[in-house]
Amino acid sequence: MTLSQIFASRASRMQASEIRELLKLLDRPGLISFAGGIPDPALFPASEFASAFANGLSPDTQAQALQYSVSEGYLPLRQWIVGEMAKIGVPCTADNILITSGSQQALDYLGKVFLSPGDTALVGWPTYLGALAAFNAYEPRYDQLTANGNRKAESYAEEAENAGGQVKFAYLSADFANPTGETLDQRGRESLLDLTESLGCALIEDAAYQSLRYDGEQVPPLLSLEIARKGDIEACRTIYCGTFSKTLSPGLRVGWVVAAKPVISKLVLLKQAADLHSPTLNQMAMHEVAEEIFDGHVETLRNAYRQRRDAMLAALDQYMPANVSWTRPEGGMFIWVTLPTKMDGAELLAQSLESIGVAFVPGRAFFADGSGGNTIRLSFSCSDESEIRTGIEKLGVLLREM
Ligand SMILES: Cc1ncc(COP(=O)(O)O)c(C=O)c1O
Repeated sequence: MTLSQIFASRASRMQASEIRELLKLLDRPGLISFAGGIPDPALFPASEFASAFANGLSPDTQAQALQYSVSEGYLPLRQWIVGEMAKIGVPCTADNILITSGSQQALDYLGKVFLSPGDTALVGWPTYLGALAAFNAYEPRYDQLTANGNRKAESYAEEAENAGGQVKFAYLSADFANPTGETLDQRGRESLLDLTESLGCALIEDAAYQSLRYDGEQVPPLLSLEIARKGDIEACRTIYCGTFSKTLSPGLRVGWVVAAKPVISKLVLLKQAADLHSPTLNQMAMHEVAEEIFDGHVETLRNAYRQRRDAMLAALDQYMPANVSWTRPEGGMFIWVTLPTKMDGAELLAQSLESIGVAFVPGRAFFADGSGGNTIRLSFSCSDESEIRTGIEKLGVLLREM
């Protein structure tokens, strides 16, 4: 018997991600890539981090920086986050915050803490692929989250029960979602709060792209709307996952969870068991850089990414055939393209890599039910405007030919 024959049943749900596999091919010279949804490295505040790391290792703080620390996270960083959360209508204390190694770790912990095998997680069709990957390890069943209130709580609950579990949470990115770029309006958010209240389940708000708004009005976070209803974060079902990955640096792996204290206390126990705490030096550096430049830096990012989004939308308007449609995001990094029903995004990618050297992500991987074959995700974050124009023009020509 080989070792792969004795892996736990949960391992069978862990599959190589189409995106990660694809990223391996992207260093081909001359390739135009709209595939990776990653920040532009040219915009990293690298010199600020260099001095923050040097400060962290200075004689005054080096013992703290290099020593084991508390699982909850570096207190000054949590206090800085308390200030930021207050600005978006979420009054809380440092005890409502856990620092995680990126928000990806928060998604893993939330899957671990809520999902028994056969329980139901409500997710969008499509949704963030990394969330599905994190939850899959806990062997859930997925049901389609529709935010327009046209499916009743009883219908979700009944189907979850028939499958041998219960609905434990709804997960979504309400602002500039990965992969669609779409934002849920306030009415949709209120109806989601009603739904999760009726189901008695948690609501995981993935706020990865929330600060990257390029135009339009900010919609209040789900957690702030729930606090407005209930008066206190301690009464709330919403669990907010934040991250510095899209604003300051993904490589340092610093994210956070904001929730009622009993949820945070349980997550702290999970963190103790998993990795004790996130690297203190990274948290110290993140705190120093955030305190110094966060607002101004986010403004710089907004200006840069806005121009790229506009360039991509203009190129799509100009070059795409009439039977192709796409979203018009107000922020984030992604535009979601729907091809004619008979076309397949994965086949288009194979053809595109071979004949025009343009990469993107086929949409199917973002659907828990394996549908969405005729969709693709384009990211505009890492290409300059002329590359965007050239890449979309080539893609338009290829689509017409196909
Ligand atoms: C919607 C969403 N959530 C979470 C993450 C994970 O980010 P990190 O773990 O770097 O905070 C990503 C990364 O692409 C994402 O797109």
